[in-house]
Amino acid sequence: MVLRDKSVVLGVTGSIAAYKAADLASKLTQAGAAVDVVMTRAATEFIAPLTFRSITHRPVSSSMFNAPTEYEIEHIALAERADVIAIAPATADIIARLAAGIADDLLCCTVLATRAPVILAPAMNVNMWENPITQENLERLRARGFRVVEPGYGAMACGATGAGRLADTERILGTIQQVLGSGGDLAGKCVVVTAGGTQEPIDPVRHIGNRSSGKMGYALAEAARDRGAEVTLISAPTSLAEPVGVETVHVQTALEMRQAVLDAVSTADVLIMAAAVADYRPANAGKTKIKKESAADMTLELVRTPDILSEVKGGLVKVGFAAESEDLVKNAVAKLKEKGLDLIVANDITAADSGFDVDTNRVVLIDGKGNQEELPLLPKPGVAHRILDRVADILAAKKM
Ligand code: CTP
Repeated sequence: MVLRDKSVVLGVTGSIAAYKAADLASKLTQAGAAVDVVMTRAATEFIAPLTFRSITHRPVSSSMFNAPTEYEIEHIALAERADVIAIAPATADIIARLAAGIADDLLCCTVLATRAPVILAPAMNVNMWENPITQENLERLRARGFRVVEPGYGAMACGATGAGRLADTERILGTIQQVLGSGGDLAGKCVVVTAGGTQEPIDPVRHIGNRSSGKMGYALAEAARDRGAEVTLISAPTSLAEPVGVETVHVQTALEMRQAVLDAVSTADVLIMAAAVADYRPANAGKTKIKKESAADMTLELVRTPDILSEVKGGLVKVGFAAESEDLVKNAVAKLKEKGLDLIVANDITAADSGFDVDTNRVVLIDGKGNQEELPLLPKPGVAHRILDRVADILAAKKM
């Protein structure tokens, strides 16, 4: 959402990873950004400008001396228009030229002339990456406020294995969103989000778990980041990638989640408990694998886990979730009162298109004054922003 109607200048330089920039351009465009691609001459050897023009529906620039397109003095126009400039892939060459303040092509000129934040996603051979000259250049740029999306580790086109692979599109995209959202309505706020379903061990190979993909909690963490918050995500096991720009703490059990939450909330303004926390855990988890005994049945003794939300006190805004299969609003209101919440997000888990595993959710928001707001079926990031709209209102009302 933070990308909608934003102007993104995407710099593409001469690396074999240049083709991956097409995916980034596509995702930025789909998210509603106006994407102006500026290519170095070397980049045009790896991928055709037509590819980017077709994806972005906008002119692609590569030379300072082309007949003017819709821009008047192109490097100045792009530099002024940009809300953010991202260079992906960024070669050792462009990093060196930017560090030296050289302005010998359109991309360098645009970066030199802009006041917008600049993000670099380097991609190069491992030896070039590890070369102290490259590292010193990057350090210099970091000190000037450039954001660097660290390259990944793996096999390279040149046959080597090591650091220097262009970061995944999702990481670059996440960084662009974080940079664009840094002045949002949650700027300066510290938000703690829990996600996923805790796992309570029975023995070293088995556990009792809750059905939860973690998607709603992760969407909340990313949405809060995109509105400028400093976010801590306390995650029970999920198959999701750690969000960029969010401090992620991994836990397994309800007791571990409790400790992580209590540690994190001491400095927090907001706690959003989206995790499905197990209410019971096996009383005596086996240290070795429990073997079955022919036909005999087995009884597990379970003990209660602490209620984390109820334990958290203090002036912070507390948001809970109520996953219900019947009496949705009645049960949610009871939990809101019992746990001393400012807001509860109630969802009916019997609907196929909302709740567990799916990418959409249909929820009712109920606040401490009893106001109810029934949201339509929305993608989970959309639900996350609607929840955060309410959180921002509550923070403002509490003058926090
Ligand atoms: N929660 C918590 N600690 C627990 C259990 C739940 O902090 N031990 C939080 C959840 O993260 C959620 C809210 O409390 O935000 C409600 O969770 P839910 O499981 O729906 O409710 P319970 O209170 O556990 O009640 P029940 O399982 O009986 O419906």
